[in-house]
Amino acid sequence: MNQSCIIHDKAIKVAVKRLGEQINKSYADQDPILLCILNGAFIFFADLVRYIDISHQVDFAQITSYGDGITPGDVAWVLKPSIDIAGRNVLIVDDIIDTGQTARFVCSNLRMRKAKSVAVCALLSKMANRKWSIYAPYVGFEIADTFVYGYGLDRKGRDRNLRAIYGNGE
Ligand code: IMP
Ligand code: MG
Repeated sequence: MNQSCIIHDKAIKVAVKRLGEQINKSYADQDPILLCILNGAFIFFADLVRYIDISHQVDFAQITSYGDGITPGDVAWVLKPSIDIAGRNVLIVDDIIDTGQTARFVCSNLRMRKAKSVAVCALLSKMANRKWSIYAPYVGFEIADTFVYGYGLDRKGRDRNLRAIYGNGE
């Protein structure tokens, strides 16, 4: 399959800046916890937080899915958030919302732990593949239901370092 750059690094930078500005506005005086979902969001998160100029804390979590990626599988924490989120406004930052399984698991878990508010920020979203509705007011790009990699997203565990996002160009 012909692999090509589908989102250039300059376009990513513009989107990340826009998302940062949106978050600064929405969360002014709310002292949010920005929760990075490892591994895929690590580059996006590092770039995004450098546009955040309001009071906030950062935290990190990792999730594993036992599913086959087609039918919904069991999802579990590999690394749980370390900050007590009770009464806090939490913004989950992920690389991509695909089926929504990951975001749904994290959102419902944080609500169970009495977060004051929970929302999702993702660089990418594949709405066509969504199986659960997710509250994600901060999305960089809606993309077609096609596999992508680079800028933190992996292709068989590799290529996370690429500065742009690549795919089959559909
Ligand atoms: P979801 O739980 O189905 O929404 O999938 C979310 C996770 O699947 C993301 O955090 C990514 O790690 C991974 N994922 C989904 N689509 C892609 C893709 O096109 N490339 C790389 N990883 C992906
Ligand atoms: Mg991920």
